[in-house]
Amino acid sequence: MTVVDVDTPGGRYPIRIAPGRLDRLAESIPANATAVGLVTNPTVAALYGQRAEAALQAHGRRVVRIELPDGEAHKDWQTLNRIFDALLAQRFDRKSVLVALGGGVIGDMCGFAAATYMRGIRFVQVPTTLLAQVDSSVGGKTGINHPLGKNMVGAFHQPVAVEIDTDVLRTLPAREISAGLAEVIKYGLILDADFFAWCEANAAALRALDPQALRYAIGRSCELKAHVVSQDEREAGLRAVLNLGHTFGHAIEAGLGYGQWLHGEAVGCGMVQAAELSADVAGLPRSEVERVRALVRAIGCPTVSPDLGADRCLALMRVDKKAEGGEIRFVLLPEIGRAVTAPAPEPAVRAVLARTTEPAAASA
Ligand code: NAD
Ligand code: GLY
Repeated sequence: MTVVDVDTPGGRYPIRIAPGRLDRLAESIPANATAVGLVTNPTVAALYGQRAEAALQAHGRRVVRIELPDGEAHKDWQTLNRIFDALLAQRFDRKSVLVALGGGVIGDMCGFAAATYMRGIRFVQVPTTLLAQVDSSVGGKTGINHPLGKNMVGAFHQPVAVEIDTDVLRTLPAREISAGLAEVIKYGLILDADFFAWCEANAAALRALDPQALRYAIGRSCELKAHVVSQDEREAGLRAVLNLGHTFGHAIEAGLGYGQWLHGEAVGCGMVQAAELSADVAGLPRSEVERVRALVRAIGCPTVSPDLGADRCLALMRVDKKAEGGEIRFVLLPEIGRAVTAPAPEPAVRAVLARTTEPAAASA
């Protein structure tokens, strides 16, 4: 088993990575837990609900399953309220614990419910998508979407443990694997040039779910994320680099309507756009932009954006948590393996949008 420790002011906890962790979830439930709320969705419940429930029921513990509708389009107040309805109806108290069994949507909503129910209860992340295993389950960002902006309402709330069962990725659709790999290569781009090169060499093995390659990629991604959030839990500075590709990507997600493109797909395309912008304003060599484009393509993510119109894209980008005083800030790459956060002149952003949208692809 690989264990990565996260140490933040908001909590210290292990990320345990190994095949079969699903059957050992009881190890992460604090001994004084009065009840466990297993938050999941019908897709994941059909595959893993019974196994998780059986594992949690060890020592006669009361487990209540709370199923939410599946999909990014349901990451909202109405769905969040269903968790509170169930917790109150089942008389969950302050010593109860929530378990998020699912992808990033379930993890973010369950975490936000845990952050706010009775002003905060404990929760465990059991991420079942690659994206959630390498990113969203680690670091304590929780929340929901608003029609005017993604993840705009939320809280920092660290889990007490993250349980990563690498076997569950076998049932994940190929498109979701590609979306998760976008977040994996992000860590190489912002923090670790050698890891980026390793991803280039292992892209095919990762897409084929080679167990060794996957385990290394998940472990290294978690190490890099743990390193960042342990230094900057609340995104006062360094943590913002984890948003490489997200400013462009969030505009695509919100512009198309949540759920049309997967979050990781939008981030993949957004990283190509951020690399293009980096070449124009931060000195990233053109040859490196082509490496980014080639790897995003190799993992199966789109490299050109749908044409939302530059004005609309810019308006959507302004609704970004990195924006300061209405000025859009981007994560830029002076080189592969090093990231900075900075504003960029609007004409430069427009130029990137013009050459990275669908019409540009049609003529390429
Ligand atoms: P998701 O949660 O929608 O899951 C994708 C799909 O896969 C869903 O239909 C789900 O039911 C299904 N699924 C989950 N596990 C499965 C399995 N093992 N086998 C088969 N199907 C399975 O999407 P996601 O990509 O996991 O997460 C995206 C969300 O994560 C976004 O809302 C994004 O904003 C959020 N996010 C949060 C953070 C953070 O730091 N909190 C970081 C990155 C992304
Ligand atoms: N996914 C960005 C972060 O956790 O900060």
